[in-house]
Parts: sequence; C-alpha cells; structure tokens
Amino acid sequence: MVANGWVATRPGCRNRGVYRGNRMRIAIDGPAGAGKSTVARAVADALGWEYLDSGAMYRAAALNGSEHTDIRFDGGRVLADGEDVTEAIRTPAVTAAASQLAGDPEKRKVLIAAQRALVSQGDWVIEGRDAATGIAPDAEVKVFLTASPQERARRRAAQEGRPVEEVQREQAARDAADDTLGRSVLTPAPGAVEIDTTGLSLDEVVRRVADLA
Ligand code: DC
Repeated sequence: MVANGWVATRPGCRNRGVYRGNRMRIAIDGPAGAGKSTVARAVADALGWEYLDSGAMYRAAALNGSEHTDIRFDGGRVLADGEDVTEAIRTPAVTAAASQLAGDPEKRKVLIAAQRALVSQGDWVIEGRDAATGIAPDAEVKVFLTASPQERARRRAAQEGRPVEEVQREQAARDAADDTLGRSVLTPAPGAVEIDTTGLSLDEVVRRVADLA
C-alpha cells in the first residue's frame, strides 16, 4: 500500500489488494520429481512471467565442462555459448555430471551469480534447489513443493518409460547427493509455503501457487 492509500495493481498479479513494489519473484524449491519444472513453467505461463530453470544451467555448464558457459533461455530453448543444448542436457550422463558440478561450492558461486543477474529485472518464477535460499532469498513468494517418494518416482518413471523401483533407487541417491553442502533440497526455506502435490492435479497446484502472488 502506498502512502496516500492508493492501492497499486499489477497485471498478472491476482492478489491485487496488496502493493508489491515494481517487480515480483516466486521461488519454487523441492526435491527431484516433486513436479517443480512442470508447475513452475505453468505458473509462469499463467501469470505471463519469465521462467528460470536453474537446473538447466547446471546441466548446460556440465555439458560444456565449464561453469563460465554463457547460458541463455530463448522461448523455451536453452542456449550454451550460443548453441541449442535443450535436448543434449537431458541425458543420464549430463544428469550425473550436473549433480557433481552442483556439489562444487566454487562452481555454484559462479552459477548463482549468473542466475541472480538473470532475475535482477522483471517478474520471475524461479525453480531450483536453492531458489529461495541462494538465488533469491528476498523473493516475495517462496514455495516448497513435495510429494511422497513413491509418487515422485512414479511420475519420473512414467515420463522416462522406466521401472519405478529403479527410478526410486536412483532418486534416493540423488536426494542424498543434492542435500549436501548447505543446499536445502529436503528442507523448506524459512517463510516458504509447503505444498504436497501427492494426489493433486497440475491445475490445482498451479492455482495454489499463482494465488500466492
Ligand atoms: O533440476 P535438475 O534435475 O535439472 O537439476 C540438475 C542438477 O543441478 C541436480 O543435480 C540438482 C542441481 N541443482 C542445484 O544444485 N541447484 C539448483 N538451483 C538447481 C539444480
């Protein structure tokens, strides 16, 4: 609310009664398979905001073998040093390399700086493991998405056409690896709204998140 009682409104912001300054960020964290990417992308579309897939940056840097890779997003495509790597960063080898790179504190610093630079202007939905702790600790809205381990593995297995048990085993190993070095993969950031997506439709989750904005 501004001093004279006039209430500012913003396009794409449902909660029109609250003055939000001149920009907004929704930071979405949570473990692999909780539905972060799908939800974050859909929320960004629903609100007409930009979407930052921070995991794609770790993947692109891992693919290129350097955290200093110039990474950009262009209409849903991921560009690394100008080259389209959208599909190339989704292989199991890159998944493993990205997890390793993400465990290096010095390399993380470089990527977090690049992520902060990207979201320094405009309205963003930021998705990651440290969106609300590392990239944008001052985000106006913080969301922590969870789902039961079985549900997370089931979704991934369906996506990748693989056995659920195998995916669940890998998922447990990845959670443990991603939960090191101060990265709050399994713990919500202070002030984050926790949403358990088990049994909820995508639309229901998107509505709950967008309603926080
Ligand atoms: O979300 P994803 O699977 O695309 O992430 C790839 C890797 O990067 C994964 O090991 C987790 C890590 N990561 C991270 O440490 N911090 C982020 N903000 C995003 C991803």
